[in-house]
Amino acid sequence: MPIRSREIRLASRPHGEPSLEQFSFDTVDLPDPGPGEVLVRNLFISVDPYMRGRMNEGPSYVPAFEIGKAMGGAAIGRVVQSKADNLPEGSLVLSSFGWREAFVAPAGHVQALDPQGAPLTAFLGTLGVTGLTAWGGLFKAASLQDGETVFVSGAAGAVGNVACQFAKLHGCRVIGSAGSTEKIEFLRSELNVDYAFNYNDGDPAQHLRQGAPEGIDVYFDNTAGPQLEAALSSLKMRGRVALCGAIAGYNRPVPGPRNLGLAIGKRIRLQGFIVTDYFPELPAFHAEAIPALLSGKLASHETVVEGLDQAPAAFLSLLHSGDPHTGKLVVRLGD
Ligand SMILES: NC(=O)c1ccc[n+]([C@@H]2O[C@H](COP(=O)([O-])OP(=O)(O)OC[C@H]3O[C@@H](n4cnc5c(N)ncnc54)[C@H](OP(=O)(O)O)[C@@H]3O)[C@@H](O)[C@H]2O)c1
Repeated sequence: MPIRSREIRLASRPHGEPSLEQFSFDTVDLPDPGPGEVLVRNLFISVDPYMRGRMNEGPSYVPAFEIGKAMGGAAIGRVVQSKADNLPEGSLVLSSFGWREAFVAPAGHVQALDPQGAPLTAFLGTLGVTGLTAWGGLFKAASLQDGETVFVSGAAGAVGNVACQFAKLHGCRVIGSAGSTEKIEFLRSELNVDYAFNYNDGDPAQHLRQGAPEGIDVYFDNTAGPQLEAALSSLKMRGRVALCGAIAGYNRPVPGPRNLGLAIGKRIRLQGFIVTDYFPELPAFHAEAIPALLSGKLASHETVVEGLDQAPAAFLSLLHSGDPHTGKLVVRLGD
């Protein structure tokens, strides 16, 4: 009996705002694994804002999804059939074969996962690429120093919440913004940020004047748009910006900051980065993050959505201001 797997495919490319029509579901019969291959059942898959860019055609830092083909993304699964000596049945693996229930692949195309006592979902969030993005953006791209003042936009989200937590662990004053009252409460009560504001409520520049009267040293930018403009006004001399994401403009372009000229006089460094730049730093990141998580100094915040059917809607929601998810959004497919 062949093993069957449901998968989500890109049905068409969006122009502007994507909708559920852009996705289709299909079922495939998986072949038996050949020599050196494994059959993996996914337990958790990740949905991320960067996937919006992969729905577009054209060159980017990551290949576009192909129309009619299963989409991809980070996933954690369990090996259920193995013809590879290094990955026996029962092994946990990380892969980029998300958006599907199961797959067959060469063992070299997946990565063995030893959870070391941490929850599995943390390896898609706080301890995974998401956490590395926060850590690399703060300490490598923006050279954050202990005790500085940092503003994090998208602070209640996957990358943002980890950035806030690392900055607090390093004795920084943290200002965080998010798009709903519930998220502001999350920033205050769960992340202990020093000043939290709803960027839809009032002028972000005014909020920054209140939260950091002497200015900010670092801005961790998840959004671009008006919050980048506000941050440029607030940044101190020789301030640094980690340009991580520009979600305010993913569905429709937003104007660039009208005050970019401030960067000249204030000698501001605007540093774009892609998390892959910091893959060589993964051991250093894990050396700090895993003990912090296991000792409770760092928390794994996540929202878990149940079932493959929910993945497209959950993904689309991420692209809207005030969407209800906090922390890393993951979709559970099995145990
Ligand atoms: N450079 C890299 O290598 C890298 C790696 C990973 C992620 N990223 C980027 O980092 C950012 C955060 O990603 P994530 O995975 O942590 O996602 P996330 O923050 O968990 O989810 C996205 C959040 O963006 C906010 N948002 C949506 N539309 C917005 C708008 N128009 N203006 C302001 N905020 C808006 C929403 O929060 P609110 O309710 O608070 O508005 C939403 O929950 C994204 O821009 C992503 O592309 C970059």
